[in-house]
Amino acid sequence: MIDFEKFAKYSKAGPRYTSYPTAPEFNESFTCKSYEEVLAHQDASRPLSLYFHLPFCRSACYFCGCNVVYTSKEDKKERYIDYLERELVLLSQHLDTEREVIQMHFGGGTPTFFSKEQLERILKAIKSHFKNFAKDAEISCEIDPRYLSKEQLDVLTCNGFNRISYGVQDFNDEVQKAIHRIQPYDVTQNAVKMAKSSGIKSINMDLIYGLPFQTFETFQETLRLAVSLDPSRLAVFNYAHVPWMKKSMRKIDETTLPHPSVKLAIMRYSIDYLEANGYKMIGMDHFAKPDDELFLAIEKGELHRNFQGYTTKGGADLIGIGLTSIGEGVAHYVQNFKEMDAYEAAIDAGKLPVHRGLILNEDDVLRKAVIMEMMSNFKLNIEGIEQAFGIDFFTYFADAIEALKPFEAEELVVVDKVGKKILVNPTGTLLIRNIVMPFDAYLQKIPEDKRRFSKTV
Ligand SMILES: C[S@@+](CC[C@H](N)C(=O)[O-])C[C@H]1O[C@@H](n2cnc3c(N)ncnc32)[C@H](O)[C@@H]1O
Ligand code: SF4
Repeated sequence: MIDFEKFAKYSKAGPRYTSYPTAPEFNESFTCKSYEEVLAHQDASRPLSLYFHLPFCRSACYFCGCNVVYTSKEDKKERYIDYLERELVLLSQHLDTEREVIQMHFGGGTPTFFSKEQLERILKAIKSHFKNFAKDAEISCEIDPRYLSKEQLDVLTCNGFNRISYGVQDFNDEVQKAIHRIQPYDVTQNAVKMAKSSGIKSINMDLIYGLPFQTFETFQETLRLAVSLDPSRLAVFNYAHVPWMKKSMRKIDETTLPHPSVKLAIMRYSIDYLEANGYKMIGMDHFAKPDDELFLAIEKGELHRNFQGYTTKGGADLIGIGLTSIGEGVAHYVQNFKEMDAYEAAIDAGKLPVHRGLILNEDDVLRKAVIMEMMSNFKLNIEGIEQAFGIDFFTYFADAIEALKPFEAEELVVVDKVGKKILVNPTGTLLIRNIVMPFDAYLQKIPEDKRRFSKTV
């Protein structure tokens, strides 16, 4: 038995490491000119991964941490597509759009809050610039099952979409009321049936633990219902509660949130239950069936982490298009404006709508490699890092190794100096954010009480 009370002490503010350095380190000295230069010098033999942010939703789910615009006005959506088209024109002046596209993702907001015709318009614009899609490109869309018609799904499948991700969160009525997201089981079930009959093989479902009124027992039932729908992947996210950043989260009564010890017990149970039902844990908060690419990638040590979570497609340059989108290359991050007015004004002025970004220095690139490998594979091949970066690992990271000692003492990690490996034990995987935090040079400079991140547990 694991003493979850004991581990609740690890409930600290910390990043989720979808990037390193993390987004608060991006700054405005990286401008659209910096981005133009980065694009001009990119290695054109590297393939592309495209991310489109489609930000609209009808109403606020109180837990939501995404960048969302709430509207039901059609003209706002049409106007957004106009600007997306114009951003694509600007981008194609600086980016070699002949490069092979191996991945494309529609995220949100709720992409299917756009009508069938609007989705067709967006896809037509994309394909007029990017014509070189790989045959096995991974093309995915985030979908709210409450807003999905067969016609919309047909537009997606006809345009090569082969993965969809449904937002579910929790099946319990009381939890759904408290998060302002009523989504009866039937709605999700129908959406899954529809996707399966359209031939989409990779269906993901998002669940969240740590939501108001959740208990160990209610989440057991949510998991049971989710597995009964037989998705090929499941994301079981830890609720990131950041009410100082997201106003709608202030509507959640914090006294109804489950205790960290309950959250740890839920996650430990989820791992055991999902493994018993044929899923394997893939990095932090993701699970996949054995025939899923992610599962095969972890076996081969080829799993990568980026802004969309985990992927098998490493080695591509990520291009973010649309409001607030983030792009990533070998040594840069770039983010578009978050406010619609600023986004539109930049495009009106004929500029790429870059709000901020970062050029990574050598130390950033090294730490990024260490952190991402540990977040993806729960282990680190120290020798590989030493060879790739020409360092003596234990000298370079003496402070981090020292900071891992309490985790070693509690048998959460093994630092193998002879075999040159760091191995994270199964219980340690629940605390992976805490375990990689000592390798984050920027975090060490912020006093613990000033860290503006969600809790790790
Ligand atoms: C853009 S939404 C998915 C698509 C669609 N809008 C929907 O809600 O069904 C992305 C996912 O992020 C997750 N998410 C959003 N806010 C979160 C938070 N504060 N903490 C953890 N996960 C969160 C949810 O699981 C959600 O399904
Ligand atoms: S969870 Fe999805 S549907 Fe709900 S507000 Fe966020 S993006 Fe919109």
